[in-house]
Amino acid sequence: MRTALALGLLLAASAAAHAQSGAAEGQKLAFDRGKGNCLTCHEIKGGDLPGSIGPKLENLKSKYDRTELIAILNDETKRNPLTVMPPFGRNRILTEQEISAIVDFLQTL
Ligand code: HEC
Repeated sequence: MRTALALGLLLAASAAAHAQSGAAEGQKLAFDRGKGNCLTCHEIKGGDLPGSIGPKLENLKSKYDRTELIAILNDETKRNPLTVMPPFGRNRILTEQEISAIVDFLQTL
């Protein structure tokens, strides 16, 4: 019984640590000019020299759930055919894992 509880706590702690490392990795990818390059168009907390082509990325958790954020990163042209935002997933600029890490990061904004 005790062991099960300890194991449960351990698993919960490692899941939280995992989400945290995902967010840190996602921030790196989002800020990397050769990867997500999100700062070219978006102001993002902690990022240098942002552009203003897209909206400032903040309070995203209150606007979109995880699935919606993944869809936006995967292919924003599905929501807005005229968008200038690159379809990161469809064009394979970012892998599924990279998009998932960036979404972890976006959910902290
Ligand atoms: C070439 C410019 C450009 C780049 C690069 C870009 N975006 Fe965008 N993004 C936009 C524009 C413009 C919009 C506004 C919505 C639209 O055009 O459909 C947008 C919208 C968004 C939205 C919805 C915001 C809201 O408040 O509704 C999210 C989230 C987002 N972008 C995330 C990202 C992330 C993360 C990256 C990097 C991986 C990125 N974008 C890279 C131009 C860009």
